Amino acid sequence: MEKKILFIGDIVGKPGRQVLKNQLPGLVQRYGVDVVIANGENAASGAGITKSLAQEIHRAGVHGITLGDHVWDQKGFVDEIDDLENLSRPANLPSMCPGKPYLIVEKNGFRIGVITVLGHVFMKISASSAMESLDHYLPKIKEQTDAILVEVHAEATSEKVALGFYLDGKVSAVVGTHTHIPTNDCRLLPNGTAYQTDAGMTGPYDSVLGREVQPIVDKMRDGIPRRFPVATDNVQLRGCLITIKEDGLARTIEPIRAIL
Ligand SMILES: [Fe+2]
Ligand SMILES: [Fe+2]
Repeated sequence: MEKKILFIGDIVGKPGRQVLKNQLPGLVQRYGVDVVIANGENAASGAGITKSLAQEIHRAGVHGITLGDHVWDQKGFVDEIDDLENLSRPANLPSMCPGKPYLIVEKNGFRIGVITVLGHVFMKISASSAMESLDHYLPKIKEQTDAILVEVHAEATSEKVALGFYLDGKVSAVVGTHTHIPTNDCRLLPNGTAYQTDAGMTGPYDSVLGREVQPIVDKMRDGIPRRFPVATDNVQLRGCLITIKEDGLARTIEPIRAIL
């Protein structure tokens, strides 16, 4: 039977958590969603996540939580991450890092593997080759699952689309995150993998990537460091909905938007 996966882009701060709580139950019902995966790397005031916020996101209806370059921003999370069953860190961080390099989410007998890799261009965190990491983990994930979603957490569109074609026909979906700007390119690649360059963020869109506009503009003008509070206006949930066939490849992918 076909399965529907809702992937939700980076949840930013309290506004992001709020729109998730308000809108997710309705989306799940309307689209008949089987599994919900969300990136939570900005859940805590825009930077990182904590154990209690991960639990809050799970209670809102998210089955699997992924992270990105902000994984360690919250002090103490390194000691909490291994307590969290359905949360993974980027797979290509140094192997001694705590946390799971991939997730297997099981719902009603359907098992989906979820793995996040960090890109290399303009990323300020030390990560090994995304391709080598995927080559290493994907066969292990494939053995245990019916479908695989690869999240490419990267700045450069070229890295994302290249990984999309690299994995075309080998995984169910390749979806990008990190830029917080949703891209208008949901499509099926030639060999059946669903693809979107960036799912966008779940948070305030009257902002610069989730932060208040004015302090960012001021910093760009004068170069003086300031605080960048999370913005509050025009809060939206963004992501994509993927239909996966019995053979593990995708039939459809479409962008999803819900407004607070
Ligand atoms: Fe992010
Ligand atoms: Fe990021």
